[in-house]
Amino acid sequence: MPLPVITNLRSIQFLKTSVNIWFVLVVLGQFIFSLYILGLYGVSGIAGDFERWNSAAPHGYIQKDFLGNLFFGLHVLLAAVITIGGPLQLMKKVRNNFPKFHRINGRIYVFSAFLIGIAGFYLTWVRGSVGGLIGSVFISINGVLIFICAFYTIKKAINHQFTEHRRWAIRLFLAMSGVWFFRVFLMLWLTIHQAPVGFDMDTFQGPALNMLYIFSYILPFVSAEFYFRIKDSPKTISKLVLSIFLLLLTSCIVVGTFSATMGMWFPRL
Ligand code: HEM
Repeated sequence: MPLPVITNLRSIQFLKTSVNIWFVLVVLGQFIFSLYILGLYGVSGIAGDFERWNSAAPHGYIQKDFLGNLFFGLHVLLAAVITIGGPLQLMKKVRNNFPKFHRINGRIYVFSAFLIGIAGFYLTWVRGSVGGLIGSVFISINGVLIFICAFYTIKKAINHQFTEHRRWAIRLFLAMSGVWFFRVFLMLWLTIHQAPVGFDMDTFQGPALNMLYIFSYILPFVSAEFYFRIKDSPKTISKLVLSIFLLLLTSCIVVGTFSATMGMWFPRL
Protein backbone atom coordinates (compact mmCIF):
# COMPACT_ATOMS: atom_id res chain seq x y z
CA MET A 1 0.00 0.00 0.00
CA PRO A 2 1.46 3.41 -0.87
CA LEU A 3 2.35 5.68 2.01
CA PRO A 4 -0.09 8.56 2.48
CA VAL A 5 1.09 11.50 0.46
CA ILE A 6 1.42 14.61 2.57
CA THR A 7 0.55 17.50 0.34
CA ASN A 8 2.32 20.79 0.49
CA LEU A 9 -0.93 22.35 1.70
CA ARG A 10 -1.07 19.99 4.67
CA SER A 11 2.55 20.61 5.54
CA ILE A 12 1.85 24.37 5.49
CA GLN A 13 -1.03 23.78 7.89
CA PHE A 14 1.14 21.59 10.11
CA LEU A 15 3.84 24.26 10.21
CA LYS A 16 1.27 26.95 11.04
CA THR A 17 -0.15 24.85 13.89
CA SER A 18 3.33 24.12 15.29
CA VAL A 19 4.26 27.81 15.15
CA ASN A 20 0.99 28.74 16.88
CA ILE A 21 1.50 26.18 19.66
CA TRP A 22 5.09 27.42 20.11
CA PHE A 23 3.94 31.05 20.18
CA VAL A 24 1.06 30.55 22.65
CA LEU A 25 3.26 28.69 25.11
CA VAL A 26 6.11 31.19 24.80
CA VAL A 27 3.67 34.05 25.40
CA LEU A 28 2.23 32.28 28.45
CA GLY A 29 5.73 31.68 29.81
CA GLN A 30 6.72 35.29 29.23
CA PHE A 31 3.54 36.45 30.93
CA ILE A 32 4.60 34.52 34.06
CA PHE A 33 8.04 36.15 33.76
CA SER A 34 6.50 39.62 33.67
CA LEU A 35 4.32 38.80 36.70
CA TYR A 36 7.53 37.84 38.50
CA ILE A 37 9.23 41.10 37.46
CA LEU A 38 6.29 43.20 38.65
CA GLY A 39 5.81 41.09 41.79
CA LEU A 40 9.45 41.30 42.85
CA TYR A 41 10.85 44.61 41.52
CA GLY A 42 7.59 46.55 41.13
CA VAL A 43 6.08 45.75 44.53
CA SER A 44 9.33 46.24 46.48
CA GLY A 45 10.10 49.42 44.50
CA ILE A 46 6.71 50.94 45.33
CA ALA A 47 7.16 49.96 48.99
CA GLY A 48 10.61 51.62 49.01
CA ASP A 49 12.25 48.29 49.91
CA PHE A 50 14.95 48.56 47.24
CA GLU A 51 17.29 46.16 49.04
CA ARG A 52 14.98 43.35 47.89
CA TRP A 53 16.07 44.01 44.29
CA ASN A 54 19.34 42.30 45.21
CA SER A 55 17.63 39.02 46.07
CA ALA A 56 17.72 38.09 42.37
CA ALA A 57 20.10 40.59 40.74
CA PRO A 58 23.33 40.98 42.73
CA HIS A 59 23.82 44.50 41.37
CA GLY A 60 20.21 45.61 41.45
CA TYR A 61 20.35 48.28 44.15
CA ILE A 62 23.54 50.00 45.29
CA GLN A 63 23.30 52.69 47.96
CA LYS A 64 24.04 56.25 46.76
CA ASP A 65 24.35 55.12 43.12
CA PHE A 66 21.34 57.11 41.95
CA LEU A 67 22.00 56.79 38.21
CA GLY A 68 22.71 53.06 38.35
CA ASN A 69 19.59 52.41 40.44
CA LEU A 70 17.53 54.51 38.05
CA PHE A 71 18.84 52.52 35.07
CA PHE A 72 18.13 49.24 36.83
CA GLY A 73 14.59 50.35 37.81
CA LEU A 74 13.92 51.52 34.25
CA HIS A 75 15.37 48.30 32.83
CA VAL A 76 13.11 45.99 34.83
CA LEU A 77 10.03 48.20 34.56
CA LEU A 78 10.28 48.28 30.76
CA ALA A 79 11.12 44.56 30.74
CA ALA A 80 7.72 43.87 32.31
CA VAL A 81 5.93 46.26 29.93
CA ILE A 82 7.44 44.87 26.74
CA THR A 83 7.12 41.24 27.83
CA ILE A 84 3.35 41.76 27.83
CA GLY A 85 3.13 44.29 24.95
CA GLY A 86 5.51 42.54 22.54
CA PRO A 87 3.52 39.40 21.70
CA LEU A 88 0.40 41.50 21.04
CA GLN A 89 2.25 43.07 18.10
CA LEU A 90 2.67 39.71 16.38
CA MET A 91 -0.97 38.64 16.71
CA LYS A 92 -2.71 38.93 13.35
CA LYS A 93 -6.16 39.49 14.89
CA VAL A 94 -4.90 42.35 17.05
CA ARG A 95 -3.09 43.91 14.06
CA ASN A 96 -6.11 43.67 11.76
CA ASN A 97 -8.83 44.65 14.24
CA PHE A 98 -6.98 47.31 16.19
CA PRO A 99 -4.54 48.99 13.76
CA LYS A 100 -4.29 52.15 15.86
CA PHE A 101 -3.36 50.12 18.94
CA HIS A 102 -0.80 48.25 16.83
CA ARG A 103 0.84 51.52 15.79
CA ILE A 104 0.91 53.04 19.30
CA ASN A 105 1.97 49.83 21.04
CA GLY A 106 4.58 49.27 18.32
CA ARG A 107 6.16 52.66 18.96
CA ILE A 108 6.20 52.00 22.72
CA TYR A 109 7.73 48.56 22.08
CA VAL A 110 10.51 49.81 19.82
CA PHE A 111 11.27 52.82 22.03
CA SER A 112 11.37 50.52 25.07
CA ALA A 113 13.68 48.13 23.21
CA PHE A 114 16.22 50.93 22.77
CA LEU A 115 15.90 52.08 26.40
CA ILE A 116 16.18 48.54 27.79
CA GLY A 117 19.26 47.99 25.65
CA ILE A 118 20.90 51.29 26.72
CA ALA A 119 20.15 50.60 30.41
CA GLY A 120 21.35 47.01 29.91
CA PHE A 121 24.68 48.21 28.46
CA TYR A 122 25.15 50.57 31.39
CA LEU A 123 24.40 47.80 33.92
CA THR A 124 26.70 45.36 32.13
CA TRP A 125 29.74 47.52 31.52
CA VAL A 126 29.56 50.07 34.35
CA ARG A 127 28.16 47.97 37.20
CA GLY A 128 29.17 44.52 35.95
CA SER A 129 26.86 41.61 35.33
CA VAL A 130 26.77 38.06 36.62
CA GLY A 131 28.72 35.73 34.35
CA GLY A 132 31.93 37.78 34.08
CA LEU A 133 33.44 38.95 30.80
CA ILE A 134 32.05 36.15 28.62
CA GLY A 135 28.55 36.65 30.02
CA SER A 136 28.87 40.40 29.42
CA VAL A 137 30.01 39.91 25.82
CA PHE A 138 27.12 37.56 25.02
CA ILE A 139 24.42 39.73 26.59
CA SER A 140 25.93 42.69 24.71
CA ILE A 141 25.61 40.78 21.43
CA ASN A 142 21.95 40.32 22.36
CA GLY A 143 21.74 44.08 23.02
CA VAL A 144 23.25 44.91 19.61
CA LEU A 145 20.81 42.53 17.87
CA ILE A 146 17.94 44.26 19.71
CA PHE A 147 19.13 47.67 18.42
CA ILE A 148 19.51 46.45 14.83
CA CYS A 149 16.11 44.73 14.78
CA ALA A 150 14.33 47.66 16.46
CA PHE A 151 15.84 50.07 13.92
CA TYR A 152 14.80 48.02 10.87
CA THR A 153 11.35 47.16 12.28
CA ILE A 154 10.49 50.84 12.48
CA LYS A 155 12.30 51.79 9.25
CA LYS A 156 10.43 49.18 7.18
CA ALA A 157 7.11 50.28 8.69
CA ILE A 158 7.78 53.93 7.82
CA ASN A 159 8.72 52.89 4.25
CA HIS A 160 5.52 50.82 3.99
CA GLN A 161 7.53 47.65 3.25
CA PHE A 162 5.18 45.53 5.31
CA THR A 163 6.52 42.05 4.46
CA GLU A 164 10.00 43.13 5.53
CA HIS A 165 8.55 45.00 8.50
CA ARG A 166 6.89 41.80 9.76
CA ARG A 167 10.10 39.84 9.35
CA TRP A 168 12.11 42.38 11.34
CA ALA A 169 9.38 42.46 14.00
CA ILE A 170 9.67 38.68 14.38
CA ARG A 171 13.46 38.97 14.65
CA LEU A 172 13.03 41.74 17.23
CA PHE A 173 10.63 39.62 19.26
CA LEU A 174 13.14 36.75 19.25
CA ALA A 175 16.01 39.04 20.24
CA MET A 176 13.92 40.60 23.01
CA SER A 177 13.03 37.11 24.23
CA GLY A 178 16.73 36.17 24.54
CA VAL A 179 17.00 36.78 28.27
CA TRP A 180 13.80 34.81 28.85
CA PHE A 181 15.08 31.91 26.68
CA PHE A 182 18.29 31.95 28.70
CA ARG A 183 16.48 31.56 32.03
CA VAL A 184 14.19 28.85 30.64
CA PHE A 185 17.00 26.82 29.00
CA LEU A 186 19.17 27.19 32.10
CA MET A 187 16.39 25.76 34.26
CA LEU A 188 15.80 23.00 31.69
CA TRP A 189 19.51 22.14 31.86
CA LEU A 190 19.44 22.06 35.67
CA THR A 191 16.28 19.94 35.64
CA ILE A 192 17.83 17.39 33.27
CA HIS A 193 21.08 17.11 35.21
CA GLN A 194 19.74 17.84 38.70
CA ALA A 195 23.02 19.71 39.31
CA PRO A 196 25.00 22.63 37.83
CA VAL A 197 26.85 20.49 35.27
CA GLY A 198 29.34 22.29 33.00
CA PHE A 199 29.52 25.52 34.96
CA ASP A 200 30.48 26.92 38.30
CA MET A 201 27.56 28.13 40.37
CA ASP A 202 29.65 30.75 42.25
CA THR A 203 31.37 32.44 39.31
CA PHE A 204 28.44 31.63 37.01
CA GLN A 205 30.86 30.69 34.25
CA GLY A 206 31.60 27.56 32.24
CA PRO A 207 31.15 25.88 28.84
CA ALA A 208 27.54 24.88 29.50
CA LEU A 209 26.61 28.51 30.05
CA ASN A 210 28.48 29.59 26.90
CA MET A 211 26.44 27.05 24.97
CA LEU A 212 23.25 28.32 26.57
CA TYR A 213 24.14 31.92 25.64
CA ILE A 214 24.47 30.89 21.99
CA PHE A 215 21.26 28.90 22.22
CA SER A 216 19.33 31.80 23.71
CA TYR A 217 20.78 34.95 22.18
CA ILE A 218 22.00 33.91 18.73
CA LEU A 219 20.28 30.70 17.54
CA PRO A 220 16.69 32.03 17.73
CA PHE A 221 17.76 34.88 15.48
CA VAL A 222 19.39 32.49 12.99
CA SER A 223 16.41 30.10 13.15
CA ALA A 224 14.11 32.89 12.00
CA GLU A 225 15.99 32.91 8.66
CA PHE A 226 15.37 29.17 8.24
CA TYR A 227 11.72 29.70 9.06
CA PHE A 228 11.30 32.49 6.47
CA ARG A 229 12.96 30.37 3.76
CA ILE A 230 11.19 27.12 4.56
CA LYS A 231 7.77 28.79 4.91
CA ASP A 232 8.00 30.13 1.35
CA SER A 233 9.67 27.09 -0.21
CA PRO A 234 7.64 24.43 -2.06
CA LYS A 235 9.50 21.62 -0.21
CA THR A 236 7.10 19.59 1.93
CA ILE A 237 9.81 17.70 3.78
CA SER A 238 11.53 20.84 5.13
CA LYS A 239 8.23 22.08 6.52
CA LEU A 240 7.62 18.75 8.23
CA VAL A 241 11.11 18.68 9.74
CA LEU A 242 10.77 22.26 10.96
CA SER A 243 7.32 21.57 12.44
CA ILE A 244 8.57 18.54 14.36
CA PHE A 245 11.62 20.49 15.55
CA LEU A 246 9.36 23.29 16.76
CA LEU A 247 7.13 20.86 18.66
CA LEU A 248 10.14 19.27 20.35
CA LEU A 249 11.54 22.68 21.19
CA THR A 250 8.17 23.69 22.62
CA SER A 251 8.18 20.63 24.91
CA CYS A 252 11.62 21.66 26.18
CA ILE A 253 10.37 25.23 26.68
CA VAL A 254 7.36 23.98 28.67
CA VAL A 255 9.59 21.96 31.02
CA GLY A 256 12.07 24.86 31.35
CA THR A 257 9.30 27.38 32.01
CA PHE A 258 7.73 25.16 34.64
CA SER A 259 11.09 24.71 36.38
CA ALA A 260 11.90 28.43 36.15
CA THR A 261 8.49 29.34 37.58
CA MET A 262 8.56 26.87 40.45
CA GLY A 263 12.28 26.89 41.16
CA MET A 264 13.34 30.47 40.45
CA TRP A 265 10.54 33.03 40.01
CA PHE A 266 7.80 32.08 42.50
CA PRO A 267 10.16 31.42 45.45
CA ARG A 268 11.58 34.94 45.07
CA LEU A 269 8.19 36.63 45.39
C1 HEM B 1 14.10 42.75 26.39
C2 HEM B 1 15.15 42.21 26.86
C3 HEM B 1 15.48 42.15 28.34
C4 HEM B 1 14.70 41.80 29.41
C5 HEM B 1 13.25 41.34 29.37
C6 HEM B 1 15.54 41.90 30.60
C7 HEM B 1 15.13 41.62 31.89
C8 HEM B 1 15.92 41.71 33.02
C9 HEM B 1 15.51 41.39 34.36
C10 HEM B 1 14.13 40.89 34.76
C11 HEM B 1 16.57 41.60 35.19
C12 HEM B 1 16.64 41.37 36.70
C13 HEM B 1 17.30 40.02 37.01
C14 HEM B 1 16.25 38.94 37.25
O1 HEM B 1 15.41 39.13 38.14
O2 HEM B 1 16.27 37.91 36.54
C15 HEM B 1 17.65 42.07 34.37
C16 HEM B 1 18.90 42.38 34.85
C17 HEM B 1 19.94 42.74 34.06
N1 HEM B 1 19.95 42.89 32.70
FE1 HEM B 1 18.37 42.66 31.48
N2 HEM B 1 16.80 42.31 30.22
C18 HEM B 1 16.80 42.48 28.85
C19 HEM B 1 17.84 42.86 28.06
C20 HEM B 1 19.11 43.12 28.52
C21 HEM B 1 20.23 43.51 27.69
C22 HEM B 1 20.17 43.67 26.19
C23 HEM B 1 21.28 43.66 28.53
C24 HEM B 1 22.70 44.05 28.19
C25 HEM B 1 23.11 44.70 27.15
C26 HEM B 1 20.85 43.39 29.88
C27 HEM B 1 21.63 43.44 31.00
C28 HEM B 1 21.21 43.22 32.30
C29 HEM B 1 22.06 43.29 33.47
C30 HEM B 1 23.54 43.61 33.47
C31 HEM B 1 21.27 43.01 34.58
C32 HEM B 1 21.73 42.99 36.04
C33 HEM B 1 22.19 41.62 36.45
C34 HEM B 1 23.03 41.68 37.72
O3 HEM B 1 22.61 42.24 38.72
O4 HEM B 1 24.14 41.19 37.66
N3 HEM B 1 19.53 43.05 29.82
N4 HEM B 1 17.24 42.13 33.05
